[in-house]
Amino acid sequence: MPVWLVTGTSQGIGLELTKQLAKNDANTVIATCRAPARATGLAGLAAARVNVHIVALDVLSNASVHSALSAAQTILGERGVDYLINNAGIGHRVGNNTTTAEMLELMFQTHIVVALRVFPNGIRR
Ligand SMILES: NC(=O)c1ccc[n+]([C@@H]2O[C@H](COP(=O)([O-])OP(=O)(O)OC[C@H]3O[C@@H](n4cnc5c(N)ncnc54)[C@H](OP(=O)(O)O)[C@@H]3O)[C@@H](O)[C@H]2O)c1
Repeated sequence: MPVWLVTGTSQGIGLELTKQLAKNDANTVIATCRAPARATGLAGLAAARVNVHIVALDVLSNASVHSALSAAQTILGERGVDYLINNAGIGHRVGNNTTTAEMLELMFQTHIVVALRVFPNGIRR
C-alpha cells in the first residue's frame, strides 16, 4: 500500500503523475499544491478517486511544509510517506533578456533549496 506525496500537482506533470498514480487502488496519493481552491482539475480527480487527498503546500515556506506534513499525518494515521516526488517548479529560460537576479534566486530556492526544506521533513516513518 504505497503512499506517495507529490508537490506541485495543480497542473502539468504533477497533475498527470497524480492521475496515473491514482489509477492503482493500492496507491495513496497526497497531492499537494499551493492553492487548492484554484486547482479545479485536481479537485475533480480527488472527487472521483478516494485514494487522492489534496493538501495545501507551498514549497518555499517552512511553515507551509510543517502544516502540510501535519495534515498528511492526520490523513495517514500510523502510515508514513513512502515516496516523495518533489515536482513543484517554475519554468523560465535562463539567459534571455528577462532573467533577473530575483528570478534566479526564486528558481534556486524552488528547485534546489527545497530539497533540504521538504525531503528531511517529508520522509519520516
Ligand atoms: N515541462 C518540461 O519540459 C520540463 C522540463 C524540465 C524540467 N521540468 C520540471 O518538471 C516540473 C514540472 O514541470 P511542468 O511542466 O509540469 O510545470 P508547470 O505546468 O508550470 O507546473 C509547475 C507546478 O509547480 C507548482 N509550483 C510552483 N512553485 C511552487 C511552490 N513554491 N510551491 C508549490 N508548488 C509550486 C505550480 O503550482 P501553481 O499552480 O500554484 O503555480 C504547478 O503546479 C518542474 O519542476 C519543472 O522545472 C519540466
